[in-house]
Amino acid sequence: MDAPKNSPLTARRTGALTGRMRVPGDKSISLRSLILGALAVGETRIAGMLEGEDAISTANAMRALGATVERSGEQAWRVRGVGVGGFAEPAGALDFGNSGTGCRLAMGAVAGCPITVTFDGDASLRARPMRRILDPLQKMGARTLEIQEGGRLPAVLRGATDPIPIEYEAPVPSAQLKSAVLLAGLAAPGSTTVIEKEATRDHTEKMLKHFGASIRVAPHGPHGRRITLEGQPELEPAPMAVPADPSSAAFPIVAALIVPGSEVILDGVMMNPLRTGLLMTLKEMGAVIEVLAERNEGGEAVSDLRVRAGGLKGVDVPPERAPTMIDEYPILAIAAAFAEGTTRMRGLQELRVKESDRLEATAAMLRNNGVEVTVEGEDLIVQGKGRAAGGSMVTTHMDHRIAMSALVMGLGSDQPVAVDDAAFIATSFPGFADLMRSLGADFS
Ligand code: S3P
Repeated sequence: MDAPKNSPLTARRTGALTGRMRVPGDKSISLRSLILGALAVGETRIAGMLEGEDAISTANAMRALGATVERSGEQAWRVRGVGVGGFAEPAGALDFGNSGTGCRLAMGAVAGCPITVTFDGDASLRARPMRRILDPLQKMGARTLEIQEGGRLPAVLRGATDPIPIEYEAPVPSAQLKSAVLLAGLAAPGSTTVIEKEATRDHTEKMLKHFGASIRVAPHGPHGRRITLEGQPELEPAPMAVPADPSSAAFPIVAALIVPGSEVILDGVMMNPLRTGLLMTLKEMGAVIEVLAERNEGGEAVSDLRVRAGGLKGVDVPPERAPTMIDEYPILAIAAAFAEGTTRMRGLQELRVKESDRLEATAAMLRNNGVEVTVEGEDLIVQGKGRAAGGSMVTTHMDHRIAMSALVMGLGSDQPVAVDDAAFIATSFPGFADLMRSLGADFS
């Protein structure tokens, strides 16, 4: 199943990229602001909200569950919530479009309410596994009434009348899974614990605390954490200031690195250490990225980043770094192609269950544009030659990050690079093409 190819776009080699820009608000924090706002009693104000399609579909879902969600100005939103356990049964199916995060976190929030909800999404979301979320929610008393083969959407979930707190060791490193269990745990009496072997993005934990829940985080093994939430808190509305999304900033950052002579400044990029694996890796590759004006915004560290084009070299990226840069491998693979030498990215099994099979989609994007690339088990190996031939149309498989990565490649490659459908970029980075053009990118 694939989307109609209705919005092709081509990137051509350009002169130096220069200028200053702020990418849209962080997707993870924007979606969580809507969901926690819907679970709080009273009005939550959100500034800097991502106005992308994933946020719109999540906002619509929260409305269908009984919350009031309004846009009050540019990137300014208000949510009036119904309280923990207070969701109403929606009249129809909740359609999360392309948004795995919106869908999976909402499943957790619904699991603690005695209502029956149908979850659905587009062809990309319908291809993604949901059992990893539904299994622990069933242990907490929710029931999966209907689901498609392979644990796919559409699925019908009946939330628990008396939710049960659990201790759950996550079998895969997934912030969505951790968050779904914690959100279900809000409605359960007593403490709900999630143990993760590798720490994943901690926005849910930080935001639950910000909204007044009691939550403890302790180390677990060398890379993991143990997170314990006390159930049945009264969540209080808390103002949210959403910082710029480091996963979106990744595209202009790599564009500036690979287009000779470029110098670009990205404003207000979130520097949460569980999201900065790409920056660490690019620095190891020899990138010149200056961290300016370090400050705190909305409970997160943010900085302006000055990026200058420069000679990159290949590196070995260890598997334990994957959770801190899980969405950044397609664009890192572009940087690797323009580096000199081999880059080996290890332990990428989770990439197979993203908006597309990103391991294969990334390899095909590079291979079809003249870059030597192999997939060995769950590793991606790119032979960097300091250039890419380009000249090919990239199939994006309804995946925003494949589309943006391919377009960035085209800015530096010998021949233009086209994408079959740029429409999905609007899920996470509305205005991408225009912001890139403002730096000098040639997209048409
Ligand atoms: C996200 C978690 C990650 C990431 C996604 C956003 C989140 O997914 O890929 O874009 O906001 O929790 P997984 O939890 O499946 O790794």
